[in-house]
Amino acid sequence: MNDPDHTVPPTPFWRRHTTIAAAVTVLTAVIAASCGSSADDAAPGAPSASSVSGPGGEGAALYQSNCASCHGADLRGTDKGPSHLSIVYEPNHHGDDSFRSAILNGARQHHWNFGDMAAISGLDDDEIEAIIGYVRSEQERQGFEQ
Ligand code: HEC
Repeated sequence: MNDPDHTVPPTPFWRRHTTIAAAVTVLTAVIAASCGSSADDAAPGAPSASSVSGPGGEGAALYQSNCASCHGADLRGTDKGPSHLSIVYEPNHHGDDSFRSAILNGARQHHWNFGDMAAISGLDDDEIEAIIGYVRSEQERQGFEQ
């Protein structure tokens, strides 16, 4: 037990090598704005960070079926509603809450002359978040009209 010549050896070299960090790349960035993931992106283990908001994701599909008839399939507006790529809708001007509110309560005509926007029914919170995520990702991808 008390053998003075037998000091405890330092951590063996092979132990130290195992601490080479497995570079864990966590995909946190994109997820912040869009936690709404349902049904179809449930591939096991697949980190689907942008499948909700990216082109072709759930948000895109919901946008097409609920918003595009007035705001345009390309977000650039129609004769029934304004373009969401207008600088008016950039996040600091019309934050995500204004999108939630427009969907849930409708919006009075005040920026344009298209008339009022009626509330859009039938969307749950996750779907609304997915739509907002999609609009924001398209605003970023396409840039704003001046
Ligand atoms: C029937 C046509 C129509 C549909 C469908 C529609 N909108 Fe609108 N929306 C409008 C019009 C018109 C305005 C402009 C109101 C104004 O003058 O500012 C508007 C304005 C908005 C605004 C701005 C609200 C504000 O506070 O100024 C947001 C955000 C918006 N729409 C989001 C959406 C989203 C998201 C969808 C789909 C879920 C959608 N809209 C579907 C017609 C529509």
